[in-house]
Amino acid sequence: MTVNASVVTTEPTLIEIDLSDRVRDVLGAELAATPDPSRDIDRSMARYHQVFAQLPVETLQQILDFGRHPDTPGVGYVRNLPVDERLPDTPRDGGPSPDKDTFVAEGVLLGLSGLIGEPVGFMTEKNGRLVHDVVPVEGGAMTQTNQGSSVFLNFHNDIVHDPSGRYEAAGPDFLVLSCLRADHEGVAGTYYADARDICRAVDAGTLDILRSPLFRMNAPGSYVRDVAGGAEVLSEPVPMISGPEAFPEVTAAANGIRPVDDRARSALDRLQAACREVAHEVFLRPGQALLINNRKGLHARSRFTARYDGRDRWLQRTYVRRNQWDIRYRAAVGSRRLH
Ligand SMILES: [Fe+2]
Repeated sequence: MTVNASVVTTEPTLIEIDLSDRVRDVLGAELAATPDPSRDIDRSMARYHQVFAQLPVETLQQILDFGRHPDTPGVGYVRNLPVDERLPDTPRDGGPSPDKDTFVAEGVLLGLSGLIGEPVGFMTEKNGRLVHDVVPVEGGAMTQTNQGSSVFLNFHNDIVHDPSGRYEAAGPDFLVLSCLRADHEGVAGTYYADARDICRAVDAGTLDILRSPLFRMNAPGSYVRDVAGGAEVLSEPVPMISGPEAFPEVTAAANGIRPVDDRARSALDRLQAACREVAHEVFLRPGQALLINNRKGLHARSRFTARYDGRDRWLQRTYVRRNQWDIRYRAAVGSRRLH
C-alpha cells in the first residue's frame, strides 16, 4: 500500500539561539562598562539598543520576529550570553543584591527585553522594580509564587489585578528570565507549554469548554497579600483559551482558578495535563535566558531544594509590553514605566 503522505506541518513553538564566543565577548565588554540602569532607565535602554545591534543580523531578526509576529515561537532559549565577572551572594529577601558592582546581567536582561518591547513595572510586583530578582525566600518555599522552591509551580501565566475584572488585559505580553546562578543540584526545570500545542492535545469538547467564560482567576499572590488582606479577589468569569484557531491566547492564574462548574473543573484538569504532555523543558544555566510569550503559552517550574546560603538559584526577570498605550489608564503618577 502506498501511503500518500500528506505532511502536516506545525510551526515550531521553541526557538534556540546560540551566540558565538566572539559576539558574547564584544557584548560583555560593553555591558561591563555600562552603569546601573536604574539610574536612568530610558538612557540605558537606548544604550542597550546600540550594544545589541551588534548581534549578527540573523540572530537579531530572530529575536525581533519573536516579539512582533503572531506566528513565531512562544519561547526562545538564548545561550552563551555574557555574565558578570564577579557575582555576589544570591540575595535572600527577594530584593536586589546591594553588592553587585557590574551590571552585565541587568544589561543582558534589559537589552533582550528592549528588542521585543518595553520593560514595565507593576506597583504590586516587587515594588514596581523593572528588574525582578527571582530567588527562593525562606518562609516562601511552599508558595505558588516566585519565592517558592519545594513545590511544583503549576502552569500559569503572569497576570495583574485590574479593575476591569480581566486580569490578563494589563499584564505583560512577554517575560524575560535570565539565569545568574543555577540551583545547587541543577534540577530546577523551567517549562513552557504553547497554546497551539495545548489546543492540538485536547479533544474538541474540552477545547469548547476552555473557550467558554467558565473560569474565574484569583489575583496574584502579592496583590491578595498586600492589598486584599489575604482574601481571594476573583476576576470575571473568563475563557482560558481565546482568539483565532491559528493564534490562540491562553490564561491561567498561578494563585488559583475557580471553575464555575464540574465540566469546567474537568476541562481545567485536562488543560494542566496537556501542558505537562506538550511542554518544552529547559534547565537554565548562567549566561542563558528565556524569552517567554506570556499570551501564547503558560510556564511552570519544577521543585528544587533551597539552602539560603548565598549560593541559591538566582534568576532575573522583566515584564515586557509591546507598548504602554493600552495600559496608560493605570500609569503611576510621575513614572513612565510603572503601573
Ligand atoms: Fe510566572
